[in-house]
This record gives sequence, structure tokens and C-alpha cells, in this order.
Amino acid sequence: MKTNTKNGSQASSSGLNELFVNELKDMLDAEKQLVKALPKMAKAASSEKLRGAITEHLDQTKGQVERLEEVFEHLEMTARGKHCAAMEGLIEEGKEVIDDDLEDAVRDAALIGAAQKVEHYEIASYGTLIAHARLLGHDDAVSLLQETLAEEKQTDENLTELAESEVNLEAQGENEDEEDDDE
Ligand SMILES: [Fe+2]
Repeated sequence: MKTNTKNGSQASSSGLNELFVNELKDMLDAEKQLVKALPKMAKAASSEKLRGAITEHLDQTKGQVERLEEVFEHLEMTARGKHCAAMEGLIEEGKEVIDDDLEDAVRDAALIGAAQKVEHYEIASYGTLIAHARLLGHDDAVSLLQETLAEEKQTDENLTELAESEVNLEAQGENEDEEDDDE
């Protein structure tokens, strides 16, 4: 909230800095949660390409954790996460997909959906972080966060491509098989 004191502008800038640091802590925790969850998602995937895409993103995610730690270093702060409830929920939904009794191809389509929800959350979060870092003059943070944002966007696009070119079509095939069985 904007204050009307003489130091109003200073107060609101330190407020934004605090918000930025909180968002950073949230993302550090979110990425760490993902590092733990992605191997389970990869294991649940039947399509080799999907498994490969998830595994590749696992490696990227580990690098993204390191990048966030670097941002904390630039800020001369200890890299400490703060529980990200949103990521916990998104991962929980991913687990439901894994546990559901689905045909392989349908599960793959559902896994892509779950993974893309994660990516979209991250894209929104990094977009916000970058905007705030820019306003605060944290230039090193801006470039590091931009690198990660580009990876998240690329992952999202790769998943769309995989869904549209293969996985969704196979899931649709399962559906048709089922309809044939009904006849
Ligand atoms: Fe990420």
C-alpha cells in the first residue's frame, strides 16, 4: 500500500523489494518441489518422447534452482525458500493423474495437461519477478530470471507440440477403441 509520509516513495520501494524477495523465496521452494516431483511424472509417462521431455525439464529445473540461488547471492542474501502452496497443489493434481485408473495414452495426455499448468504458473511468476527486478534495478537478477523464463516458455511449447502431434491423437484413439467395444 502506498503511504503518504514524506518518505512515501522510499517506503513503497522497500515494500516492493520485500515483495520481490518473498516471490523469489516462493519460486525457490516451487522449483525444489518440482525437482522432487518430476521424476515421478517421468516414470508415469508411457510415451518415450514425453518421458524424455519431462526428464530434460528435470535437468533444466535443477539449473533453475541454481540460478535462483545466484540471484540471492547478487542480493547478498541467503537463499532460503518459503513454502509455495500453489506448486504443492499443482503437484498434487499431477499425482492424482498418476494414481487415476487411465489408459496409458490418456494418462499421457493428462500428464501433459498437468505439466503445462505448472509451466504456466512458472511463466506468470517469472514474468512478475522480472518486472519487479527491473523496477528495483536488480539488473543481474533480470538477466538470470529471463534465462529461466525462456526455458519455461520453450518447455510449454514443446509440450503443446508433443500433445498435438502425438499424445492427444493416441488418447483419442483409445476413445475410439472404447466406442468400438461398446458396439
Ligand atoms: Fe521451472
